[in-house]
Amino acid sequence: MAHTHKLATKFVHVGRKQRYTQGSVNSVIQRASSLIFNSVAEKKEATRHRYKGALFYGRRGTLTHFALQDAMCELEGGAGCYLYPCGAAAVSNSILAFVQQGDHILMTGAAYEPTQDFCNIILKKMGIATTYYDPLIGEKIAALIQPNTKVLFLESPSSLTMEVPDIPTLVKTARAINPEIVIMIDNTWSAGVLFPALEHDIDISIQAGTKYLVGHSDVMIGTAVANARCWDQLRENSYLMGQMVDADSAYTTARGLRTLGIRLKQHQESSIAIANWLAQRPEVKAVYHPALPSCPGHQFFQRDFAGASGLFSFELCKKLSDEELAQFLNHFELFTMAYSWGGFESLILANQPQEIAKIRPAIERKLTGTLIRVHIGLEDVQDLIADLEKGFERIK
Ligand SMILES: Cc1ncc(COP(=O)(O)O)c(C=O)c1O
Repeated sequence: MAHTHKLATKFVHVGRKQRYTQGSVNSVIQRASSLIFNSVAEKKEATRHRYKGALFYGRRGTLTHFALQDAMCELEGGAGCYLYPCGAAAVSNSILAFVQQGDHILMTGAAYEPTQDFCNIILKKMGIATTYYDPLIGEKIAALIQPNTKVLFLESPSSLTMEVPDIPTLVKTARAINPEIVIMIDNTWSAGVLFPALEHDIDISIQAGTKYLVGHSDVMIGTAVANARCWDQLRENSYLMGQMVDADSAYTTARGLRTLGIRLKQHQESSIAIANWLAQRPEVKAVYHPALPSCPGHQFFQRDFAGASGLFSFELCKKLSDEELAQFLNHFELFTMAYSWGGFESLILANQPQEIAKIRPAIERKLTGTLIRVHIGLEDVQDLIADLEKGFERIK
């Protein structure tokens, strides 16, 4: 694809090489463990190019995987894309590829909770230390970088509390102290395209493709797009860890890309409309949507992002009792309660301030009201507002 093509065009065309589509519009679904060599010479050639697009062995991928990997590299500007069975595997294997016993990593203190658990349990067991930083720390990150700090891990916006870090400052500060530090980001919220991580000197852009790439809440997959400096190490470590995804999931994810542009546009438009409506409600203390000034780090969102997606949170003026929480959450008609997000449907979940405080030990800002997280799907905005309005009536 030409570099000059706009994103909307890229979503439709990326990865659709003749070799992968073989005369159809979409890539073929090539399910294979064994890939057959017709001669000793062919086997030798495949071995030589086994991680450069040759059909070698199922675990190295088939045409279906190559199509998705090419597409992701074109979208995110990477040298290579590794595919994992879920987003959590993409996060843990990206970190594992660059650390060893005695190393130290810097992890955002507002990371997705299982990412924190991975550091606290698995990395700790391996003798790798984690320091959590406030995502709004800015250049003060310098004081946390140690001689053995190998990885700086970012997530933007933060999970649940949605702070947007000043990524250019974090990256510049870290690189000035240690140019070799490996910088990676959980870039799921931006679908890897609203925030072009590799253009910001980040080495690896990770996504739970489970969310926006797939977009239909029916497949789990993880992606990690790496620059040329980190690609070989990421690929070979992940391969040795046995990371792999089936051809059907890779196919479905590539199909999701075709509508990602219009889905993201709608998620943005609807989520901002609902965030603005919520901001006027007397029950709401603050709306944490990156596109609204009330979101910590909003100015960095405005500067660095090409747009918003559909996930955000808002804090209620009061902390709901268990009974009120059940009244509020149990009776929505359109919003359903579920963890995964990024699909076509709207979702709602709540966290109490003490639950948030427990998973934010490095952050001083404290919530006082119940935090509600919503994912705004593709339904009509007025229908969604009416559903939320009835929810507020139930806790009057
Ligand atoms: C920000 C973020 N990163 C990673 C993940 C993990 O993705 P998966 O569920 O595909 O393992 C999630 C899932 O909710 C997430 O919200």
